[in-house]
This record gives sequence, C-alpha cells and structure tokens, in this order.
Amino acid sequence: MYDQAQAWSKIASRYEQEFIDPYRGDVHNPMLRALRQMRGLDRLTAADFGCGLGPLLPFLAERFQAVWGVDFAPEMIAQARQRCASLPNVRFLEQPFGDLSPLYGQIDVATSVNSLVLPDVRQLDEALVQIRRCLRPGGKLFGIVPSLDGVHYHTMLLLDRALRSGKPLDAARMNAASLAEHGSYCFAFGRFHFQGIEQHFWQPFEIPYRLKRAGFKRVQMRKTLLSWKQFSGWKELQDYPPPWDWCFLARV
Ligand SMILES: C[S@@+](CC[C@H](N)C(=O)[O-])C[C@H]1O[C@@H](n2cnc3c(N)ncnc32)[C@H](O)[C@@H]1O
Repeated sequence: MYDQAQAWSKIASRYEQEFIDPYRGDVHNPMLRALRQMRGLDRLTAADFGCGLGPLLPFLAERFQAVWGVDFAPEMIAQARQRCASLPNVRFLEQPFGDLSPLYGQIDVATSVNSLVLPDVRQLDEALVQIRRCLRPGGKLFGIVPSLDGVHYHTMLLLDRALRSGKPLDAARMNAASLAEHGSYCFAFGRFHFQGIEQHFWQPFEIPYRLKRAGFKRVQMRKTLLSWKQFSGWKELQDYPPPWDWCFLARV
C-alpha cells in the first residue's frame, strides 16, 4: 500500500500529461452535471477521496461550506494544497482509504474520481465501507471509476479499423492490442499496470455489487463519455460514441 502511495507521488508532476482527463470541456461528465443542479450545498460538507492534484476541489469549494481533499500520496496533496491556497474552506487529510476515521459521520457529499482503483479487491471493498462511514444519514457518494468494458469497446473499434484498412486478422489484432495498450492489462481480473502504479478497472456489474456489499443503497449508473482526442485512432473513430468511464451515485 505504501509503495502505491509512493508510486502515485512519483507521477504527480506528469499526471496531467499521462492520464485520461474526465474534466475536459469535450467530456460528458454526469457527476459535474448532477452537482451543478443540486441546491442548498452551501450548508454542507463535501470530501473528494483521492483528490490527486485537486482538479475538482475549486468546483466543490465554490458550492459547499467546507471541503476535504483526501489522498495518501504526499506529492499529490502538496500540489493540491498549492492549487487551493486561496480557498479558505478547503482542508486536506493525507490518509489511506483503509482508515478514514478522522472523517466518520462528517460528510454530506463524497466524490471519488478515478481513485477507487485499489488493486486488492479486499482493500477496495474496505475503502467503500470507510467512505460510507464518513457519510451522514442521507449522504451521497458520486464516483467515477475506470471502465474495463470501455477498453474492450475501444479495442473492437480499433480491430475493425485495422481490418477495413486491409490488414490480415492476426495483424489487425496485434495492431489493436498495441494501440489499446493490452500489454498493461490483465483483463480477467481488471488490473492495469502503469509506471509502478497498479489500478483496478471496473466491470459495470461490479459497481452495484461492491457498493451494496459496502452498505450503500439505490445505486444509479451513467457513462462518463470521455474525449476521443485522448484515445489512439481517434481521427478515424470519432464518428462513433467515445469510450467511457463509469459514473455512479450511491446513497447511504
Ligand atoms: C487517478 S488519480 C485521480 C486524482 C483525481 N481524483 C483526479 O480526478 O484527477 C488517483 C488518486 O487516488 C489516490 N489514491 C489511490 N489509492 C488511494 C488510497 N488507497 N488511499 C488514498 N488515496 C488513494 C492517488 O494517490 C491519486 O492521487
């Protein structure tokens, strides 16, 4: 676990170049849309679990009375602190999801964007329980999680593109696998390795399953439609709907 915190810290300075960005203007992000529509947030407390460099914190700080940025990677927290230096209602907690006791019962709205990625699913389940324990009665968790089926979808389009260009089947498969970075995935267990970081990618059926086991109720899911421009082959594929991450809303 400590190694993973170090690995995330190590990548902090390059994070924005290396990772898919769900906040880009050309992304359809149902979580941001839902938060924009919610009223009466100015009396409530929000926490962003796995805040990273803090891209969501200014948005939350504008709407909520108080905001916590939580992350276990010191370098991520350091950069998020700088970003929020002028926002007096934002506080930080450098803590792994395995023990969120400092925030138990204090949070009305939790968010977690591409941070529920612990590769050990026992720890992932415990993280969900810990986040639920932070929520007040009636509290909500908005999550975005990386989708494994989105990778399969991109692969399908890349394979068909390569076949259309006249490649034989084996070569077309190799081309799709290389462009979709299959070498970094274990598809059976939804694991993705990148520069010392190991992340869990989610199947859609897993979302209600894990959230309900952790004690959440009424789980709703939508796709976060990502920007084609962040995927290989996009110029020829952009007439198709783009790949997605899964967005969910779960209540206690
Ligand atoms: C993919 S980044 C997402 C950052 C941010 N939410 C965003 O949307 O840009 C994942 C973040 O979650 C943090 N994280 C991952 N596992 C964690 C854990 N078990 N406890 C605390 N933070 C964790 C990492 O340090 C990293 O900053």
